Amino acid sequence: MNEKILVTYATRTGSTAEVAQAIGDTLSASGAHVDVLPMQNVQDLSAYRAVIAGSAIRKSQWLPEAMRFVEKFRADLGRKPFATFTVCITLAMSNTEQYRGVVAKWIAPVRELVTPVSEGLFAGHLDFSKLPLNWDTFLLRVTVALGIFPRNDRRDWNAIRAWATNTQTLL
Ligand SMILES: Cc1cc2nc3c(=O)[nH]c(=O)nc-3n(C[C@H](O)[C@H](O)[C@H](O)COP(=O)(O)O)c2cc1C
Repeated sequence: MNEKILVTYATRTGSTAEVAQAIGDTLSASGAHVDVLPMQNVQDLSAYRAVIAGSAIRKSQWLPEAMRFVEKFRADLGRKPFATFTVCITLAMSNTEQYRGVVAKWIAPVRELVTPVSEGLFAGHLDFSKLPLNWDTFLLRVTVALGIFPRNDRRDWNAIRAWATNTQTLL
């Protein structure tokens, strides 16, 4: 039986990829065999005994390719331990705790397809240096200017690693 764990991710500006790598490194450090791959590079799950899939949030949703991944592999994922993680900027707001339930609802479409054993919800990074200037990013700049969303990198690496360690016991 294969003992590898897949950590796979969908990202636009890279912050979710780095979260995936931190999760993979945490699992590897405790002896697991782990692949960390972008979702578009995953064609087959048969090599993996468990899957952790994560996406950045845009407009209160997982990225389309992340949803397609779960839809495509729904049957396989239902037969393996499956965990999700989500990276967004809402969880970087000062009053984070009141928004965790809101963010958890954004992942309901994933949960309807496959039931995860664990769901990581993490603050991300609004990196305007990697974003084009368009209406959506203009609105985001306004929310930052108003002090609603923070501009800097708000990923909490200790929380990410702690979640990975805890999730490993469930896989
Ligand atoms: C166009 C756009 C829309 C976004 N929409 C949301 C949103 O609805 N809710 C939220 O919490 N974060 C939102 N974000 C913030 C991203 O989820 C956050 O910056 C995340 O770290 C990006 O991950 P990535 O670097 O892996 O692409 C949005 C970011 C962009 C650029």
